[in-house]
Amino acid sequence: MPAAPKPEILAAFEAAKGFMPAGEGLALYAAAVEAGRLGLPLLEVGTYCGRSTILLADAAREAGVSALTVDHHRGSEEQQPGWEYHDPETVDPEVGLMDTLPTFRRTLHRAGLEEHVVALVGRSPRIAAFWGTPLGFVFIDGGHTDEHATADYEGWAPHVAEGGLLLIHDVFPDPQDEFTGQAPYRVYLRALASGAFTEVSATDSLRVLRRTGPGI
Ligand SMILES: C[S@@+](CC[C@H](N)C(=O)[O-])C[C@H]1O[C@@H](n2cnc3c(N)ncnc32)[C@H](O)[C@@H]1O
Repeated sequence: MPAAPKPEILAAFEAAKGFMPAGEGLALYAAAVEAGRLGLPLLEVGTYCGRSTILLADAAREAGVSALTVDHHRGSEEQQPGWEYHDPETVDPEVGLMDTLPTFRRTLHRAGLEEHVVALVGRSPRIAAFWGTPLGFVFIDGGHTDEHATADYEGWAPHVAEGGLLLIHDVFPDPQDEFTGQAPYRVYLRALASGAFTEVSATDSLRVLRRTGPGI
């Protein structure tokens, strides 16, 4: 039986602003719990308002490790004003730009999970450039252009420890199903072709891969 979140964690996840459906959330949680057994931090790229972070934080708490979450909090292309995934509530009226950090902090506080999470605020490749700690789990859910998805893969996949998990969100093999482009699908294909990662499971658009060899 895959690990499942307690009802209050699932309720906090479902109440949080964000994009991940419950089925993918359950798969994410089970993978995070499994990876937590390596005793290494769990990292996500793409915090937004903390919906998926709730699940990583609870898995990290269970494992006695930290959940790390990376975001510049200014939103992806498709979340900007005028685009399909824009939420006007995420705009900071003072600066006129998106700022999801306050909502993220409230979400985690409400769920009682602040203590288990380190928020890394900045551009993903900039943070990855000076990263040196092995990770048990990397969940890529940041920018969905080829530039961003590739940079996330090249920046963070090298840090997935042997036996650790690499998760990629919004993998759409059929272009008919895509809603923000197929860059995550291309990253997924690249990870498999590298020989460094082996597929463990697929749940809707979420892919779970395990490091079974060196490199990326
Ligand atoms: C799809 S949302 C993440 C959704 C979140 N995981 C959830 O479950 O609700 C993508 C996030 O990635 C962030 N992002 C996009 N490109 C980024 C980059 N280059 N560096 C850091 N964050 C980035 C955006 O600000 C946005 O909040």
